[in-house]
Parts: sequence; structure tokens; C-alpha cells
Amino acid sequence: MTASKPHGGTLIDRRQFGEDVSSIKAAIELDDVALSDVELIANGAFSPLEGFLSKEDYESVVENMRLKNGAIWSIPITLPVTEEAAEQLQIGEKARLSFEGKDYGYIVVEETYTPDKTREAEKVYQTTDLEHPGVKKVFDRPDVYVAGPITLTEPVSHERFESYYLEPAETREEFKRRGWETVVGFQTRNPVHRAHEYIQKTALETVDGLFLNPLVGATKAGDIPADVRMESYEVILENYYPQDRTFLAVFPAAMRYAGPREAIFHAMVRKNYGCTHFIVGRDHAGVGDYYGTYDAQLIFRNFDIDELGITPLFFEHSFYCKKCENMASAKTCPHDKEHHVILSGTKVREMLKNGEMPPAEFSRPEVVKVLIAGVKETV
Ligand code: ADX
Repeated sequence: MTASKPHGGTLIDRRQFGEDVSSIKAAIELDDVALSDVELIANGAFSPLEGFLSKEDYESVVENMRLKNGAIWSIPITLPVTEEAAEQLQIGEKARLSFEGKDYGYIVVEETYTPDKTREAEKVYQTTDLEHPGVKKVFDRPDVYVAGPITLTEPVSHERFESYYLEPAETREEFKRRGWETVVGFQTRNPVHRAHEYIQKTALETVDGLFLNPLVGATKAGDIPADVRMESYEVILENYYPQDRTFLAVFPAAMRYAGPREAIFHAMVRKNYGCTHFIVGRDHAGVGDYYGTYDAQLIFRNFDIDELGITPLFFEHSFYCKKCENMASAKTCPHDKEHHVILSGTKVREMLKNGEMPPAEFSRPEVVKVLIAGVKETV
């Protein structure tokens, strides 16, 4: 497969920087999730979306993982407002999109509707449990969804990540410049541990380049903050990765923790960034034990590879085996569990908080040092 086409055929561009929105009376206050959605719709990462989902598209996505035109889309991208705010909106008119007192653009309001959030939770998250951070977010956000195309008139600032912020058009250009015909995308909300490194490098054996694309938008409490992670990525890339075959850029999206559905979504978005392949390991985008270890891989069976337009690369749960003296998985290692170095995320965070180094077989010492320093600052 050569360079991937954007999802839906064209990279959407909904940016009109500098356009004056001050005369638009109606306004919608965005939360951090909505602001990142606006940005990712505008820069084409969410192609073919041009705005927030209409009722028909929303229902089709919730029920069938497809937009009403048939295009694969597994996560509803919606703009929730309160009933009072919705009453102020005029159908067919513009409303400013503002965040913390600043205008970022506008939406042309095509429709407002009240979603069945229980149904959304059941279908998208496979649970209505409010302990699930993604489900909680759905219910915490206001109850009316506003639909319509958006325009971004003001760039969103990324503070300390600015140099790692690239739009899909730019990453595509960069891959081309590097002569990469095949690129594997890697999504993560964690530091790169040895298991991540192992599956990335295994994938890299068969493609031209690795696109390390950590998610830096809203995550749940307890996840390691994005700025600490960024420093840890710089350190591991510098010490253990071939510079000319690896490229790092941030993915400024919010984490939904929707497991299988989010794996499909992550793959579509990475296709827009120009990837031809996408890594899906164990419990991708999962949280707690809401999803089976390989559900996020099995869900890909619902779609034809040509229609997906990106090739998923599936990996078994990987670990260091002391007997093999190597990274391995159940597919490649014959030894008992007692020889495997496996630590839960909770255990690792606890160790880091206490200033304890997880073993080098689990995480590179250079990475651990950055994490211990960073975690201390944030606790
Ligand atoms: S995610 O929520 O962003 O998916 P995480 O950062 O833990 O979480 O995982 C990034 C990618 O690495 C996902 O595709 C995940 O399935 C995979 N992964 C994480 N840990 C392992 C592991 N030990 N073995 C195999 N795959 C893994």
C-alpha cells in the first residue's frame, strides 16, 4: 500500500484565520473536549467531518459506526450545550465558539437535538456505568447537542508542545519529504515502556517509518500529564530510536476510553495524518476491565481493509521474559508467567510516586528518571 488517502477522499480544511467574528451575537461556551474537537475538525484530522454531527449522522454513528453517507465513523463528535443556551440559538444562523473568554470561530447552527445518552453509552462504551470516565463525561456534559459546520478563525495554542504540533497536511508533507511510503502510526496516552517500544520496533521492521503520535488532549485523573510524557518521549527517541525512521508529533485530542470503538476512530484519524498502518495492541484505549484484552482488534473484522484505507497491525500482550532474555509475547515465549516482567499501570504510578525505579526490563531508566521527576512535581 502506498501513501494513504484521507478518509472520505479529501483533507477537510475549515480554517479562516483572522476572520472577524465579533459581530456574531449568539455564543456557545466550549469545554476542553469541544475545543479540541473544533480544532481537529478544522485542520482535517477528523476528515470527512466538517462540523458537529447532525441527529441523523449521530444516530447512524451510535448504531452502525457509520455516518449516514456510509463512511466509517465510530465515535460521535458532538457539541453539547444546556437547554437554556440552545434556546438562544437560531437555526441557520452563526454562533461564536468561545473558550475561556476567547473566540475561536463559529458554527452555523443547522439543528439542535436531545440525544439518548443511555443508548450512546451502551453502544459506544458498552456500559452505562458512571465509573467509566468516558461515560461519566457523556453524562456530565450538557443535554442538547448542536449540529452544523464549524469554522476556526483563531489558532489554538499548544504552549510547550508547539514545535511538536503538526497538522495532517504537514505530517503528510513530512512523510513525503522523508521518502516514507509506508508509515505506522502509534497512539498512546502513556510513557513509552519496553512493551510499547517492542511492538513499535517490530512494526518498524516491515514499514518505512514510525509516527509516534501521543494523545495530549484531556485525559482522566491519574494518567501521567502530557508535558511529562513529552519529555520522556524525547529522551527515549534520542537514546533508543533511529532518528531518520521515527517522527514525533502530538495528537491534541481528548481521550474517550471507548476501547474498541476508539481504536477504529484512532485508525481513521491516523490515516488522515498520512499513516498507512496503525498499531493496535492489548486493550487499546481501554480503562479498567470494561473491554476484553483483544476486543479493540476484533472490532476491525467488521470492516473491509480497503474500506478502512489503513492496515491495522495487531500485537499480543508483550512483556520481558527473563528466560528468553528478550521482549516476547505468548505467541513467541514458551516460559511460565513467573519469568515475565509485567506491572500494572497502577503499580507503576505508585512506584514512580514513591521515587522507586521500575525494573529496566519494564521501562528504560532514562524514561523512568524523567517520570519520577515529573510525577513528583505534579503530586
Ligand atoms: S491507549 O489508551 O493510548 O491505547 P496505551 O498508551 O497504554 O493506551 O497503549 C498504546 C498502544 O500500545 C495501544 O495500541 C495498546 O494496545 C498497546 N499496548 C500497550 N501496552 C501493551 C503491551 N504490554 N503489549 C502489547 N500492546 C500494548
